[in-house]
Amino acid sequence: MNDKKRVLSGMRPTGRLHIGHYFGALQNWIKIQNDYNCFFMVADWHALTSDYADTSKIKENIVDMVIDWLTIGVDPEKVAIFRQSEVAQHCELFLMLSMITPLGWLFRCPTYKEQLKEVKSKDLNNYGFLGYPVLMASDILLYKAQAVPVGEDQLAHLELSREIVRRFNNFYGEVLVEPQPLLTKTARVPGLDKRKMSKSYGNSIFIAETTEDIAKKVKTMYTDPARIKATDAGHPDGCVVFAFHKLFNKNFEERKCQCEAGTIGCVKCKKELTELMCEWTKPLVQKRKEISENKQMIEKILQQGQQKAQEVASQTMKEIKQAVKIGKV
Ligand code: TRP
Repeated sequence: MNDKKRVLSGMRPTGRLHIGHYFGALQNWIKIQNDYNCFFMVADWHALTSDYADTSKIKENIVDMVIDWLTIGVDPEKVAIFRQSEVAQHCELFLMLSMITPLGWLFRCPTYKEQLKEVKSKDLNNYGFLGYPVLMASDILLYKAQAVPVGEDQLAHLELSREIVRRFNNFYGEVLVEPQPLLTKTARVPGLDKRKMSKSYGNSIFIAETTEDIAKKVKTMYTDPARIKATDAGHPDGCVVFAFHKLFNKNFEERKCQCEAGTIGCVKCKKELTELMCEWTKPLVQKRKEISENKQMIEKILQQGQQKAQEVASQTMKEIKQAVKIGKV
């Protein structure tokens, strides 16, 4: 291997990805894949921590997600793409780390408390859900990843991983590496209705969405309700259409002025956005189609990634067992 630093990141397989995933994470993955040795993992065990009662969609969701990664430009020649569940050491390390992780650290975790309160449709009072951040720490530490690209929502989990490393190394010697957050520029993408873009809200625009669907969806975007006539002054800062211009239109500053001055109406503004987005999506639709027709290639990519992952994971696990004095002498 070369001397590039190692990165690990993962996503739970929730099926097709939307533009929020793109601007929130994938865009960075594509940038960093040139500068780091990247391991991009399908976190299928993590999917079970909340969706254990209905696993019927997981396999299909994995394929859909990997197709989207490839469509958007994650390059399997440069990075290792693999399924967490196929590299058994994730579970081994999870067990090991669960021995040394104090319960208080987990109960205190903000995402844990929040989700228990927010998610009413599933029973999350299970051991695996509480241990979610320990499994995530195992994912990262198994590869001795120096850096993890994370959104703000995952920062607390990364901090927990760092604490676990310190505790482990303190007990058993310097084996694990403290991962640093790779805070790269991301944009928060609103959904069509201005809430956070989320598949479960039905307010998403997907990656490689067809031009027809984009046109339909842009039409339904939430605009400034105080603006009745096209010549009224607009308030771009609270407008979903403008939020998307910021992402897709190089001249968004100019658009802002036009909107505020009431020299452009919402209908025209939406039409121009549709055109810009269609330009972006058109080649992606074609590419996605080609990739999805080649399921064998996808499986091969996952196998190759798995091999690379297994090499590193088995080496780290060996070192860990030696340090902990467990297993063969
Ligand atoms: N917890 C992450 C999420 O919900 C997914 C994930 C699992 C992950 N393991 C990881 C992210 C390791 C970064 C590193 O989005």
